[in-house]
Amino acid sequence: MNCIITGASRGLGKAIAEKFAAGGYDLCLVSRNGDALQRTADELAAKYPSIGIRWRAFDLADKRQALACGEWLSAGGASPDILVNNAGQFIPGSVHDEADGVLEKMMEVNLYSAYHLTRALLPAMIARKKGHIFNICSIASLKAYPNGGAYSISKFALAGFSKNLREEMKPHGIKVTALYPGAAYTDSWAASGIDPLRIMEAGDIAEMVYAASRLSAQATVEEIVMRPQLGDL
Ligand SMILES: NC(=O)c1ccc[n+]([C@@H]2O[C@H](COP(=O)([O-])OP(=O)(O)OC[C@H]3O[C@@H](n4cnc5c(N)ncnc54)[C@H](OP(=O)(O)O)[C@@H]3O)[C@@H](O)[C@H]2O)c1
Repeated sequence: MNCIITGASRGLGKAIAEKFAAGGYDLCLVSRNGDALQRTADELAAKYPSIGIRWRAFDLADKRQALACGEWLSAGGASPDILVNNAGQFIPGSVHDEADGVLEKMMEVNLYSAYHLTRALLPAMIARKKGHIFNICSIASLKAYPNGGAYSISKFALAGFSKNLREEMKPHGIKVTALYPGAAYTDSWAASGIDPLRIMEAGDIAEMVYAASRLSAQATVEEIVMRPQLGDL
């Protein structure tokens, strides 16, 4: 069994990679910074020596690189058992005064990355009638909030992508799950000064992704909504 995770060098992606590694899955890890990705791959290889780990740096916000990533992942006719579209970026701002170009950037990183990579991998998955796609959306996909701006718009769009894909893939035997996490402690929160115990752990999100992947072929978890016990910040 194999699992592709984008944005796997740190944060939620790394936690999800570790969970599937512990489950015996071979991993394919992608993010932009090759050094960081190699450190993560080395760490997981040392901890889980029986699994295979492939990694390569791609900027998935760039359509050409997303398609090249799809080709690299499909080499030799491979098709993913699990694909986790997790790569993403948060630029805070408000629609009325955020910098010009932020919407385009957020759509490229948070939506087009998943759209183009998934489309590149789908033909082999459809031919095999097997696979499970997770799209890491956000509470910001469900609800507007101050300083959400273009990020929130792009995450609403990712949820739309996930819902459409779910409907389309029903007859093809491919599962699609949208995960909507609230705040979970990762590097992106490190500078905020927030008490890590106020929000979720990255491992909490990984647990739910893994659990949703373990059901029978005839059962699909369509949506997972997760919030800190005390609610949103
Ligand atoms: N943590 C939260 O509270 C939270 C809540 C809701 C939703 N989310 C979503 O969960 C996902 C992961 O969040 P996180 O907190 O783990 O973020 P993070 O710590 O900033 O990690 C983001 C990961 O994505 C990679 N990445 C960023 N841009 C990329 C690009 N253009 N191409 C390829 N890889 C890219 C990063 O590596 P490089 O920089 O090397 O590329 C890194 O591995 C995101 O989609 C985020 O929106 C997070």
